[in-house]
Amino acid sequence: MERIGVFDSGIGGLTVLRRLRTAFPRLDMVYLGDLARVPYGGRSVDTILRYAVDDVEFLLRRKVDAVIVACGTVSSNALDALQRRYELPVYGVIESASRRAAARTRTGSVGVIGTQATVKSGAFRRHVETADPAVKVTEQACPLIVPLVENGVGSDDPLAEMVCRRYLAAFEGKNVDALIMGCTHYPLFRPAFEKLLPGVEMIDVGQALAEDLQQAFPRTGGSGRTEYFVTERSAAFDELVRNIDPGVDPDAIRIADIDE
Ligand code: DGL
Repeated sequence: MERIGVFDSGIGGLTVLRRLRTAFPRLDMVYLGDLARVPYGGRSVDTILRYAVDDVEFLLRRKVDAVIVACGTVSSNALDALQRRYELPVYGVIESASRRAAARTRTGSVGVIGTQATVKSGAFRRHVETADPAVKVTEQACPLIVPLVENGVGSDDPLAEMVCRRYLAAFEGKNVDALIMGCTHYPLFRPAFEKLLPGVEMIDVGQALAEDLQQAFPRTGGSGRTEYFVTERSAAFDELVRNIDPGVDPDAIRIADIDE
């Protein structure tokens, strides 16, 4: 395996890419952010699958050997369908993080935050309960966070804290000691979550997946190059890429024609 494709609706999947980059420095990676159609989180299962198929088809044309669904919404609503449809390995972000949360909690109470479609699917709940049926799961949809992140609002912005405070109130009195950041945009707001829920372990889905893939992926690979594609340009995307990949050539971020 030399080349993996990584996709998300927007910039959130870059938090997964960053973890994969550290874990597999030699692999070549192709990232696709479907910024023209973000957010996916309020859409129907049929639409999420249709968009995901477009994204995977684009990555296949870039000749990837495996696909990472760096999106909680697609992973929770369309992973099985994608795995049935394609022969190459397709990995999602639900299972590793759920196992990790079930293993880490001491209070037996795990929180999950994600998009509306992710919470509605119940995928994290099912996987945490499969890992440990005794663990209690409390889920909360946070639909305003993705638009804030996509618009470049930082976690230190008072607006971020106000929105997070409203959503995290769902965990009051639940004795949660592990919180799955079930949308790949959310690690960008991690400082705000940590401030509002002190002492609660934040579970980063990209980190959990990268650790689990250590066995599946070889240490060797290509040249360690990353290509970035977006369906629409965005300053927030460019800035985050520069942040996680400081040597990146601005021309390395290209427009993807996913209908090609
Ligand atoms: N990063 C996606 C996720 O993990 C964002 C969802 C969206 O597009 O609404 O769910």
